[in-house]
Amino acid sequence: MTVQPASPAVARRLQLILQSIDRIRPLSTSVTRVLNALSSDTAGAGMIAELLGLDPALAANVLQAANSAYLGYGPTCTNLQEAVMRLGFARIRTITMGVAASGSLNHSLPGYRLATGDLWNHSVSVAMAAQWFARSLGFNNPEDAYVAGLLHDIGKVVLDQFVMMDYNRLYEYAFNNRVSFSKAETMVFSIDHGKVGGLMAKKWNFPMALIEAIGGHHQPWMVESQPRLAAVIHIANALAPMDPAMMNRLGPRELLPEALEILNLPAEKLERLRVSMVNFLTGGG
Ligand SMILES: [Fe+2]
Ligand SMILES: [Fe+2]
Repeated sequence: MTVQPASPAVARRLQLILQSIDRIRPLSTSVTRVLNALSSDTAGAGMIAELLGLDPALAANVLQAANSAYLGYGPTCTNLQEAVMRLGFARIRTITMGVAASGSLNHSLPGYRLATGDLWNHSVSVAMAAQWFARSLGFNNPEDAYVAGLLHDIGKVVLDQFVMMDYNRLYEYAFNNRVSFSKAETMVFSIDHGKVGGLMAKKWNFPMALIEAIGGHHQPWMVESQPRLAAVIHIANALAPMDPAMMNRLGPRELLPEALEILNLPAEKLERLRVSMVNFLTGGG
């Protein structure tokens, strides 16, 4: 990622932003242990269950998912090992990352004018839309799109304090130049919340595809290894159902043609997919 600050003042602020990323809390030990075990070739369901059991929030979320009526399982599952076997490692990874992220995503962000719960609701909605698009477009592992969707705006958590100090300048820049807020961030800060989130994901040692999808969700064409995942997050961010009040606060969401090109997706097909996705996610049939 090339970052070129325009002036010494911008360079100084960029340095402060990068220092804030450096100071973010590491993931909890229990989350890290579960994620490491899931990526190792040797851990079985028993060991994963044991590690999940050390963290009450993780254990509760896994059991809740295993008993989700949506999945149509029969008898109630109260045993973590059985839950791991029912759900599979990919789903356990998704749940673990979701639990890890939910704490940070559930705060209010005064800089972005987001109330408590707003960013979490938007993140879950984008995650579900991203997984839906990924599945419809034949991705091998749509669960990856869920995780990337859930975490795509995590950078806002760090950038919020800087946005708060410069809100008028950012807003005026976006309004006068008719560009997205993320573009205004790039102009004012030399970095946007996507790239900030990518750097946070890197610090947490997340997989490269996830780092890139978070980092490039507003510029998927800049992503080197898996631009398709970043492009799916871009379209999910633009099209996921959103509370109208929050839509007003966030301003227009951009859908760039480059994202459709990466996915080789004609606009008419995207519109058909969008309608099906909204129906699916809002229970409209
Ligand atoms: Fe974003
Ligand atoms: Fe977003």
